[in-house]
Amino acid sequence: MKQMEEMGSLQMKRLRISKKIITAVCGLFAMGIIALGGCARTDPDMDIEYTEQEELDKSADLITVGFSQLGAESDWRSANTDSMLEAFTEANGYSLVYKNGQQKQANQITAIRTFIQQEVDYIVLAPATESGWETVLGEAREAGIPVILVDRRVNASDKNLYSCWVGSDFELEGKKMAAWIKAYTEKKGIEPDEVNIVNIQGNIGSTAQIGRSRGLANAARDNGWNLRAEVSGDFTETKGREVMAALLKRFDDVNVVYCENDNMAIGAIDAIEAAGKKAGPDISAGEIMVVSFDGVNKEALSFAREGRISCIAECNPMHGPRVRALIESLISGEEPDKFNYVEEKLFSSLPEVESVTVDGEVYEVESDF
Ligand code: AHR
Repeated sequence: MKQMEEMGSLQMKRLRISKKIITAVCGLFAMGIIALGGCARTDPDMDIEYTEQEELDKSADLITVGFSQLGAESDWRSANTDSMLEAFTEANGYSLVYKNGQQKQANQITAIRTFIQQEVDYIVLAPATESGWETVLGEAREAGIPVILVDRRVNASDKNLYSCWVGSDFELEGKKMAAWIKAYTEKKGIEPDEVNIVNIQGNIGSTAQIGRSRGLANAARDNGWNLRAEVSGDFTETKGREVMAALLKRFDDVNVVYCENDNMAIGAIDAIEAAGKKAGPDISAGEIMVVSFDGVNKEALSFAREGRISCIAECNPMHGPRVRALIESLISGEEPDKFNYVEEKLFSSLPEVESVTVDGEVYEVESDF
């Protein structure tokens, strides 16, 4: 009996999703909606009739998406959340359930379990850190709900726990930044063993931190730079300020600060200036060069125009339309690429480095931003 009930509810769920899919496909061909009007009422392939109540229930025609965002630690994160909210509107055929994880994986796991109970059609996860997702993603799979990862990744060995991922190549961002530091210091005649770097890292265990830290650590080893310290500033301005103030007390020869996001760079510059030093590219004159990642925060961009931040590696947060396109291709029965990388630039107002080459690819440095 219980088995029959389970089978019945699974079948109902499939029918409900099929109806939404049919409606969404109709939405994609909105210009022809009147001609296709019948398909909002019946599924000709499955010979299903829908009740009047269902016809009236507007939300039944929407694709439901549960989005577990990791938090609101930075301007990048806010822009990313906004992009998702703008992409998954009712006008676009979606009903979005948004949950802010407040930087806690436990909250994100609870959110995913809630989405499963709510029987959403798709789950989008922006994971705080890479590990610890197997169990809950397994539960989503059991429930037949596809999961799309956005921004950071999970390190589950079973890649079938999620449909696909879209985001940045964080290690490439780190490599590009390291290539810029190398080119700039060489142009200025600064010897590798005179380059004393501290890395203010993002939250430990996140894909953005792992990739950017790896990009720098490998370049420091290969180029003979002194990587004096790596300390997490949790991607926040407050922590960036605190960490930088402490590092300035520990080391008196730091001349490059590699901040794994713009918010931490703003905090670090505050600490540098509060200590009576100058943030700028003229290392030989005693300035401390600050470089960072994102290119979203307006203040950071204006610091970059003034040279207080010497270079920014772009990290593009506008993933809403990209995630929507992935969901729409799943709806149409296509199999999107598993890993979808976003192209990104380098921004610097300093004229010395016009481009960098990483792994045989040339990346122009944008000075007009
Ligand atoms: O995962 C992307 C990173 O997370 C951004 O660089 C940072 O600002 C954010 O908090």
